[in-house]
Amino acid sequence: MVSIKSDREIELMREAGKILASVHNEIANYIKPGLSTLEIDKFAEKFVKKNNASCSFYHLYDFPGNFCISVNDEVIHGIPKRDVIIKEGDIVKIDGGVCFKGYQSDAARTVIVGKVSDEVNKLVERTKQSFFEGIKYAVPGNHISDIGAGIEMYIEQFGYGIVEDYVGHGIGKKVHEDPEIPNFATVKKGILIKKNMTFAVEPMINLGTYEVYTADDNWTVKTADGKPSSHYENTIVITDNGPEILSLI
Ligand code: MF3
Ligand code: CO
Repeated sequence: MVSIKSDREIELMREAGKILASVHNEIANYIKPGLSTLEIDKFAEKFVKKNNASCSFYHLYDFPGNFCISVNDEVIHGIPKRDVIIKEGDIVKIDGGVCFKGYQSDAARTVIVGKVSDEVNKLVERTKQSFFEGIKYAVPGNHISDIGAGIEMYIEQFGYGIVEDYVGHGIGKKVHEDPEIPNFATVKKGILIKKNMTFAVEPMINLGTYEVYTADDNWTVKTADGKPSSHYENTIVITDNGPEILSLI
């Protein structure tokens, strides 16, 4: 069931989104070589709690961290660890969920640490752009599949792999609600998009193959070929005039 949110619910999601957007901005400034992903996680937790909110992923499906932090060929769901140390040239995917007064926001950024190759720089930039290309189609009267088709249409010219095993989703009182939102064109059109629906759109784009696998820690999803992957995600609400991004400031 895809729920339509009331204006009050959207206001709370907007608040959650603002907190999440600020923590992302803070983390981007904080990350530097020598920090462990666990230290970044603790930094995020402190910031979120200071803002009277909580980290939604903590213990969600038993996830053992506050935020998911995934480095280079790790695509998503990286567990914050004491012994994973950030170094110059890394790309770090920070994926966070914030709950404020019972309402969720979900957003991911890819942070470039120092200098990376032109190839990786472009991957990160284009992954972010693909989100904006996709949400152009998130308007009342379109179908869910129009979003993924928009992402794929933009990404295909670069020959990147679009991750298929993990997708975007509805969001509200829960982090994961209906519908699923693939980042690629699908045969099924999906539901009709309506005003006041709220979605997390999150392209995961690989430099090489689209194929991924889950590592031995049972969480971290990695690219099959060991090449880097980028992730960009925001929570949006559908308005009469198109999408409003709730988790970006
Ligand atoms: N970040 C994921 C998403 O964007 C959800 C993480 S679930 C967790 O949908 F259990 F790993 F935290
Ligand atoms: Co999400």
